[in-house]
Amino acid sequence: MGLRSAKTVIEVRNYSFKYASSEKEILRDLNLKFHEREITILIGPTGCGKSTLLKSLIGLIPHMYAGSWSGSVMVDGMSIKDCKISDLALKVGYVFQNPENQIFMFSVERDTAFGLENLGMERTQIRDRVDWAMALMGITNLARKPPHELSDGQKQRAAIAGILAMKPRVLILDEPTSLLDPHTALELIRLIQDLRDQLGITVIMVEHRLDLIARVADRLLVMDNGMIVEDGTPREVFAKDNSSLRNIGIPTITRLYQALNSLGPKGDVPLTVDEVADLIRQKQKKKRSVSA
Ligand SMILES: Nc1ncnc2c1ncn2[C@@H]1O[C@H](COP(=O)(O)OP(=O)(O)OP(=O)(O)O)[C@@H](O)[C@H]1O
Ligand SMILES: [Mg+2]
Repeated sequence: MGLRSAKTVIEVRNYSFKYASSEKEILRDLNLKFHEREITILIGPTGCGKSTLLKSLIGLIPHMYAGSWSGSVMVDGMSIKDCKISDLALKVGYVFQNPENQIFMFSVERDTAFGLENLGMERTQIRDRVDWAMALMGITNLARKPPHELSDGQKQRAAIAGILAMKPRVLILDEPTSLLDPHTALELIRLIQDLRDQLGITVIMVEHRLDLIARVADRLLVMDNGMIVEDGTPREVFAKDNSSLRNIGIPTITRLYQALNSLGPKGDVPLTVDEVADLIRQKQKKKRSVSA
């Protein structure tokens, strides 16, 4: 069964939004479905509306931001505007771009417990959930540490642990690797992939490091000026000659492929160094057999 036939968890219908202080619509007549277990990456130039869309998927818009909107956003078939933010938090978890906005308690474990305490969950159940989430994120050894003593990568993990403790079905992340070095960024991306594989979580994230992320993404959405201009697998999207792709960083390896294409017939768009190496070998073989 292809992912596209999987269950829809979030649906955006004819949705437009304008902040009270903005002159024009920031999101313009969006129609999107997000499916169970799918990892979706949202990219697009700065100011095009990516974070505004994420905020609309978790109910921060319209509940916390003044503005006007039309259309609807449904989570599990329920309209977001009719749900309480606290009820939505159990279904959809949101990790801010800057973890400083999210972690503020005296210790990592208190922080991980914060959302559950707010829900009034029983203490032993909170203990279990907190231990589970910290273990999953590999930060059990940091349980007693104050957040200000953590590295950026550890803060990022602590922020995600606090969200996972709520056991949401959808995890939404806004540029989760922006503070991380390439190695830690890759670790985090692998971890996100594991969460999908092990827990069946749906992931929606804004992420610019396409060199790292393209290989784990099931779907790539390209946004420009409040609209979705491309929607497909990374291979499908990178194979397009869409001018809005020029402003965003398509993987270096994909660019190399485009250069290779000028030397002979097209193959599948590669997403990794290994795949491009294979492609070069194939082209060499073909060249040899032609000249033999
Ligand atoms: N609270 C707000 N009030 C008014 N306008 C806002 C508000 N937040 C964002 N905007 C405007 O909405 C537009 C889209 O902003 P948004 O943060 O969604 O962009 P983005 O695609 O996430 O950009 P970036 O890649 O820089 O994070 C921008 O023009 C921004 O100035
Ligand atoms: Mg943003």
